[in-house]
Amino acid sequence: MTRLDVRGFRIFKDDLSPKDQAAIVDALRHVLRAAPLFRPVTPSGKPMSVRMTSAGKYGWVSDKKNGYRYDPQHPSGAPWPEIPNSILDIWHRHVERERLPDCCLINYYGEGTRMGLHQDKDEADFSWPVLSVSLGDDALFRMGGPARGGGTESVWLSSGDVVVMGGDARLAYHGIDRLRFGSSRLFPKGGRVNLTMRVVD
Ligand code: SIN
Ligand code: FE2
Repeated sequence: MTRLDVRGFRIFKDDLSPKDQAAIVDALRHVLRAAPLFRPVTPSGKPMSVRMTSAGKYGWVSDKKNGYRYDPQHPSGAPWPEIPNSILDIWHRHVERERLPDCCLINYYGEGTRMGLHQDKDEADFSWPVLSVSLGDDALFRMGGPARGGGTESVWLSSGDVVVMGGDARLAYHGIDRLRFGSSRLFPKGGRVNLTMRVVD
């Protein structure tokens, strides 16, 4: 395992063993059955290229009418499934303070998908980090600062990498420019799953 520090983003390469990753993929199958992936729509009315769902007390959702927000229900009206213990274990290893995340957002990146530069700022208390887990195909992660338009640096994130976005990086712009589709065998049909755990309220 190696650790990189880029603009306050703490990047733990190979934090999860192949065995850990397989256990998480297994747990995610149950989550996805209870809370199927859906495609959020931005407040300006554009469908996002990434599909999403969540586990935990809240899920992150967006549609044209109500915009970006946390919601206690999946768009189907069902409550979100619980965050699997295999995923909470990663939080316990990286976050010392005694509180569990309220939300594990699950993003699925298929071929040709990306995520534009954005800040994670729908949470109430920015003293808690956002913890990101990469699974599957490699993705080019771009990191900036707290203002749009400053310089950025990029690193490739691979399956098993964990990024802690806390401190100076908590409100920093970040996004995914592109995937190396098919670079990993974790998912038989290719693609990437990113998990982000967040304390919401
Ligand atoms: C996100 O910013 O929500 C996702 C970042 C990633 O996919 O690595
Ligand atoms: Fe984000």
